[in-house]
Amino acid sequence: MTAIQRFYETFKPEHYDLYFDISRANKIIKGQTKITGTAVQSDIALHQHDLTIQELKVDGQVVDFQVDNDQDAIFFNVVQAGQVTIEVTYSAPLTDNMNGIYPSYYEVNGESKQLVGTQFETYFARQAFPSIDEPEAKATFSTAIRFDEQPGETVIANMPEDHETDGVHYFQKTVKMSTYLVAFVLGDLQSKKTQTKSGVEVGVFSTKAHPIADLDFALDIAKRSIEFYEDYYQTPYPLPHSWQVALPDFSAGAMENWGIVTYREAYLLVDSANTALSVKQVVATVIAHELAHQWFGDLVTMKWWDELWLNESFANMMEFVAIDALEPNWHIWESFNANDVQAALKRDATDGVQPVHVAVNHPAEIDALFDPAIVYAKGARLLVMMRSLIGDDALRQGLKAYFAKMAYGNASGADLWEALGQASGQNIGEVMKTWLEQPGYPVVSAKLVEGHVVLHQEQFNIGKQADTDRLWQIPLNSTDPKAPKLMDTADLDLGSYADILARTNGVFRLNVGNAAHYVIQYDERLLADLLEDFENFDPITQAQFLQDNLLLAEGGRTGYADLLWLLPNLADSSSSLVIDLVYRIVSQIKDFVTPGSEEEQLLKEFVAQLSANQIARLGWQQKDTDSNEDLLIRPTVLAAGVYGEDAAVLAQAHAQFEAVNRQVAQLPADSRSAVLVSEIKNNQGTSNFADFLALYQKSANASLKADLRTALTSSRDSSELQSLVDNFQNAAVIKPQDLRGWFAGVLANSAGQSAAWNWLETQWSWLEERLGGDMEFSSYVTVISRIFHTQERLTEFKTFFTPKINQPGLSREIQMDIDIIASRAAVIKQQADQVVMTLRALVR
Ligand code: BES
Ligand code: ZN
Repeated sequence: MTAIQRFYETFKPEHYDLYFDISRANKIIKGQTKITGTAVQSDIALHQHDLTIQELKVDGQVVDFQVDNDQDAIFFNVVQAGQVTIEVTYSAPLTDNMNGIYPSYYEVNGESKQLVGTQFETYFARQAFPSIDEPEAKATFSTAIRFDEQPGETVIANMPEDHETDGVHYFQKTVKMSTYLVAFVLGDLQSKKTQTKSGVEVGVFSTKAHPIADLDFALDIAKRSIEFYEDYYQTPYPLPHSWQVALPDFSAGAMENWGIVTYREAYLLVDSANTALSVKQVVATVIAHELAHQWFGDLVTMKWWDELWLNESFANMMEFVAIDALEPNWHIWESFNANDVQAALKRDATDGVQPVHVAVNHPAEIDALFDPAIVYAKGARLLVMMRSLIGDDALRQGLKAYFAKMAYGNASGADLWEALGQASGQNIGEVMKTWLEQPGYPVVSAKLVEGHVVLHQEQFNIGKQADTDRLWQIPLNSTDPKAPKLMDTADLDLGSYADILARTNGVFRLNVGNAAHYVIQYDERLLADLLEDFENFDPITQAQFLQDNLLLAEGGRTGYADLLWLLPNLADSSSSLVIDLVYRIVSQIKDFVTPGSEEEQLLKEFVAQLSANQIARLGWQQKDTDSNEDLLIRPTVLAAGVYGEDAAVLAQAHAQFEAVNRQVAQLPADSRSAVLVSEIKNNQGTSNFADFLALYQKSANASLKADLRTALTSSRDSSELQSLVDNFQNAAVIKPQDLRGWFAGVLANSAGQSAAWNWLETQWSWLEERLGGDMEFSSYVTVISRIFHTQERLTEFKTFFTPKINQPGLSREIQMDIDIIASRAAVIKQQADQVVMTLRALVR
């Protein structure tokens, strides 16, 4: 895409008066926008997309204008540069694409209803009103809204309502802010409210399809998050209120609109009495993420979209900093390690991956570049690395100065590095550059050479080896106090191993705490010394070891079989992080055995064996004595037990179902998924399948729905699976926002894989039309690459996707995914015998 002109260069808006008249019944928006600002030249432009413009006035005079849909623009002239007032009268369609102003559909007691909400990031404000729709064009906004209002309905926005006259709701003027953060929601809402210590009104809103108690958890986390950030950033929350609103239809996960954050229902509403701890943790971190943005992103905003990563990776780090402070017993950093770190390391090991920081000309290019594993997970990992280098105190001090200097304005990464550099006295921007501008990361090999420990760094790849001489400034974080803090050369001699051991109580390790973005390959001797003590290491170290060696195995540098030997010793760990890594490895091993084969049976026995002690220890029901770790481990090991098909475990699962008289909603959330999966897989002949699907359609409880989806997609019956595929395009059963999970679920099931793949091949153009505008559209391709692992599927994948390789939003994804599937197929072929032999040796 060629560079586009920034319209902010032609016109600098100061204030918008926005008026919307929204009809859900007629699916139309009528609008009037009045903008005051400074014209830099006499020919100026505003953004618009799909607006039908009736009239445009400059300083009260009707003027001619040209609409240019290719450039999302209206061009017109003002009499002369300087202060002007522009008034535009227009109309726009109320469309279902989950962008701009859009409806959400839901049912209460069988009655169909609609909310209307907004999603303006990155460039959809222009679908709602003519504007300079660029993050740098900050202005104030006074919004007025009329809609086909029914008794009891409300409308909420960035600021409190000022007054209502003749059915028009007028909202107070905002502070200076970017267009992409303007938002409102209207409809039949229920809410819970409270106040922070400092007097900020905090509220949670949802449709009335949910028990009102489901708003409590979010309200508590939101209130405490704001209090935390006011203290941490040493900068007050600048608005009178902070609303959190759950929308039934939502394209992304959540959106940090200033003062009115919007969420997927799954990421805000929690049945406090019956929700898995892992789900509560996700909801809490999502809320903390969006509230971190209220300062970092909203108060101070990136100049341009090339620094979206900074916004997102910063919020991604802060969600863990905040929740760790609010709920210290959760050990939430372990969840960062179990999820974000794994996603970053895996994705970033593929040749062709993008660097964290990439130039973009048009915001639409972000769609093509929006790789969450890089922008969020790797970016956050790098900021965590940075935080461990400069320390938390310097980070807070630097941020305080940054907010003070940049408030209500725009900044770039350089401004942040400067503030943090000042606060820490370290040239942190320089270190970060090697990580942010280069794709990938290094593997550091540690070898004994003539009694010395010698390190070497080179880029790590799974699959195709990138032919580069990239170097990184690597924080070594060694147990050896004499090792340098940073390794910036290809090779480094750390000196005599004997001396190192003397200094380190006999334990030489690198990347202590797993905070830096690299993997380590120890040579045989160093490895043997490490493993001697392995059982005594802390959970982060044990998990890190599994993580690094799993990656090395995927990259063909070590064997999966070596990893298998470690699992029986770790499977009884009381650390959920370790258990997570154990079963992450197990789930990869599943690809080594053919469904229905004797080898698969062997693997099932192995997994049954691995999980047996934990299932016996924890049982199917929560106990008062459970630790938080136990609460996280239970669902994982029960799922493993159901996969392992031990007769006694399956009988226990069924007994749970009978104990609640088959009332799914009454099952405890921690064992619900395992019980439902087992019912679907092992108790055919009942009406479970139809009942579960009907309940899925009826229920408003997102985590129950997710468990039902997991169960339904695990059926062994191809015709049942086909019936699910037949509902993929039926929004009354499967909402478009949830489709990817369904598709991936059926595709991952060998009995449904052909049906799901065939659906994708034949319905691709429908999918593109319905969801192609979504920035995460390419993830439909990504999920396939996580599942396919045979030569035959690789060929089919190539046949289908190679003709699409020049599509801007898909090109990189397709290329990477071909490499990913090919390398996995090769590793499986090469190592399968060894893996099966090891399983034979391990199964009792
Ligand atoms: N600002 C983003 C959402 C977004 C990003 C919308 C880019 C449009 C373009 C929001 O803060 C966010 O990061 N949402 C996440 C959830 C989050 C908690 C990880 C998302 O939607 O996935
Ligand atoms: Zn974000």
